[in-house]
Amino acid sequence: MRLRLSQSRLATSLAPSPLIGAFCLLIAAPKLVLSTLTSNEPEALIEPADNTIDNAQHAYEPEFGVFDRSIVGRAPSGVTALVNNVPESLNLSPGTTACYVVSKDVIFGGSSASRRQTDDSEESDEEGNADASKNTRKVYLSANTCLQPRSIQKDNPTAQPPQLVITVSQSEAGGCARTLADVPEDQKKSFREGAVMFQANATGDLYVGIVAPEVDDTKFKEIYNFEVAASTDMYYHTYNAENTSELLWMDSDSSAVLLVTRDLTSDPKQFQQVMEAEPPFSLYAENVARNYTGGLRASVCGLQNNAQILVNGNGGGMLNQLCRTGMTIRGPGGHPKQQFYFQGLNATSKYTGILYKPSSSTAKRDVNGPGGGGTVFPAINFQTVQGRNCKVVDGADFEFCDEVNWAMPGNDQLNNTELVRVYDKYARDMYANFEKVLAQIPCEAPADQRYSLARSCSDCERAYKRWLCTVTIPRCEDVSSTNPNAVLRNVNDAFPNGTRLPDDIRQALGNNIYFNSSRNSQLNEEIKPGPYKEILPCDDVCYDVVQSCPAAMQFVCPSPGRVGFNISYAVRGDSSDEMTCNFPGQSRTRTSVAAGMLSSAPYLISMIPLTASLLLL
Ligand SMILES: *[C@@H]1O[C@H](CO)[C@@H](O)[C@H](O)[C@H]1NC(C)=O
Ligand SMILES: *[C@@H]1O[C@H](CO)[C@@H](O)[C@H](O)[C@H]1NC(C)=O
Ligand SMILES: *[C@@H]1O[C@H](CO)[C@@H](O)[C@H](O)[C@H]1NC(C)=O
Ligand SMILES: *[C@@H]1O[C@H](CO)[C@@H](O)[C@H](O)[C@H]1NC(C)=O
Ligand SMILES: *[C@@H]1O[C@H](CO)[C@@H](O)[C@H](O)[C@H]1NC(C)=O
Ligand SMILES: *[C@@H]1O[C@H](CO)[C@@H](O)[C@H](O)[C@H]1NC(C)=O
Repeated sequence: MRLRLSQSRLATSLAPSPLIGAFCLLIAAPKLVLSTLTSNEPEALIEPADNTIDNAQHAYEPEFGVFDRSIVGRAPSGVTALVNNVPESLNLSPGTTACYVVSKDVIFGGSSASRRQTDDSEESDEEGNADASKNTRKVYLSANTCLQPRSIQKDNPTAQPPQLVITVSQSEAGGCARTLADVPEDQKKSFREGAVMFQANATGDLYVGIVAPEVDDTKFKEIYNFEVAASTDMYYHTYNAENTSELLWMDSDSSAVLLVTRDLTSDPKQFQQVMEAEPPFSLYAENVARNYTGGLRASVCGLQNNAQILVNGNGGGMLNQLCRTGMTIRGPGGHPKQQFYFQGLNATSKYTGILYKPSSSTAKRDVNGPGGGGTVFPAINFQTVQGRNCKVVDGADFEFCDEVNWAMPGNDQLNNTELVRVYDKYARDMYANFEKVLAQIPCEAPADQRYSLARSCSDCERAYKRWLCTVTIPRCEDVSSTNPNAVLRNVNDAFPNGTRLPDDIRQALGNNIYFNSSRNSQLNEEIKPGPYKEILPCDDVCYDVVQSCPAAMQFVCPSPGRVGFNISYAVRGDSSDEMTCNFPGQSRTRTSVAAGMLSSAPYLISMIPLTASLLLL
């Protein structure tokens, strides 16, 4: 594939401008005064309070065999009645069962707030039952494990005990079975990661058991604690297993990490309302080496009791000081999303992050309504790196390159504000030259004189700015990265801390201009990041400029296989584990390729009229 610009039917008098492709153009930048060394290290890390509940005090003692079938609509002793949308919680020793009943008057009683009726209404209730027995009603049962036995194995301190099991039946014997072996397969379901959702068709009372499996007490100690709820409207506790990419890991450095949610709306009419509302999500996070949340990652109370970090809008979470969250429109498309910016994490550490959406979007938990337990999303993994010369910033300091949310080459001598100022100013100055050229091209001319009916000058400006920021601010990858698509830069330079790469690497690559320099020598001189690896920009970021801008601009991209291509651009791969190239919005969380494609610009050559002077050869 090769892109070429043929002659334009536009003003050929426009001389090919030396400003375009303008990358080598020198801009006189003010001499930088290096700031004093700043550090993002946290002062001290506080462990969350110990939430262990005294085993002996509250342990549940089931009493079977004393059910009184004559008490209609009332829980038999030892069986707790569940009310619509109100969770019940309980401690449970391994090897025991807790038993609940959702009575038929709760199920068929209509309004979600209704409690079981009093004795006065027994008569009408009976009538209702006769009616109801012909019908079935869906009952949504859900439960979360809040605490589970802890491993006491020296060689396996993070071993997980077996998960709880829910049993659901219209008979007491089935719903409150002593042993799981007695329960048919379709009436029981094991919790997964501390959560279970079970939908039942009820024609009468529904019995619900929560069964704690036997646990080897030489390996685990302490008990289970859970929360269970029944609802006729929707699940009280929801685990959204489908929505795997609600949260995206954008990038990391040795102590900072940037995570963003997907766009919360793409409807411009809703932007203001969404931006002004409380951030809708909380985030639980944990250093994977600690792993207290193992087996509980789909459970709200399990995360609340065991996670290391909780980030919420009101600042009250565990280790909340490690992360700032808020709404942002930075990033591709300028759509509202919630951002989480961590600082002060440990270097070279793996973390897990779990997004949680409380039931009402105003961050107050509406605990006694339908779905009051909120929604937990699947865990994502992210990690910090070792080296200190790639820096990820929270983006707020970018004024011009407002779609940049990746790590860039940096130096501890420059704080993030200064670093961004240097890159942003450079890009903006380059852009000013481009604007001068664009001003000579008749964008606002009548349709038959414009360079393309499909693209306008504002498309060109947007594409050029996106390209400019992507090539000006390299996506920085730690030198220790094993990503084969990352290109080593500045091999001969010293790191900011004075050390150099091993001799053998410098000897092998040091005389190759691709490896012994960086993309932009001026920025390199100002920032002095030393050796780093770069994920090259995706070639489509460049082609988008060719397609969006007037041919008279003479903007050209190298094509794959040609000289210069693979030192300056890379081609998007399929959904492999490794990032192949960079574009604004490219996350480290691997998602489907289609989801990452430029959404605002159709990348189909055939959509451009030939009169746009673009030929694909
Ligand atoms: C960053 O460095 C600049 C220049 O030294 C200084 O003026 C500014 O206060 C620093 N900002 C922060 C947040 O430390
Ligand atoms: C409940 O009823 C619906 C139809 O109303 C049916 O599709 C579903 O399979 C039933 N579920 C169970 C667990 O029997
Ligand atoms: C950082 O490492 C220390 C020592 O291993 C550990 O105690 C602490 O919990 C870790 N903090 C985070 C946020 O990972
Ligand atoms: C110096 O910095 C580089 C890159 O940040 C790192 O890989 C290296 O381990 C550091 N060396 C020392 C002695 O700290
Ligand atoms: C990089 O390599 C080129 C040869 O390809 C050489 O001319 C140049 O001096 C080298 N630059 C540095 C900084 O080592
Ligand atoms: C660039 O691609 C060519 C083949 O297309 C390959 O031979 C060469 O090694 C590549 N160079 C780099 C720096 O990856």
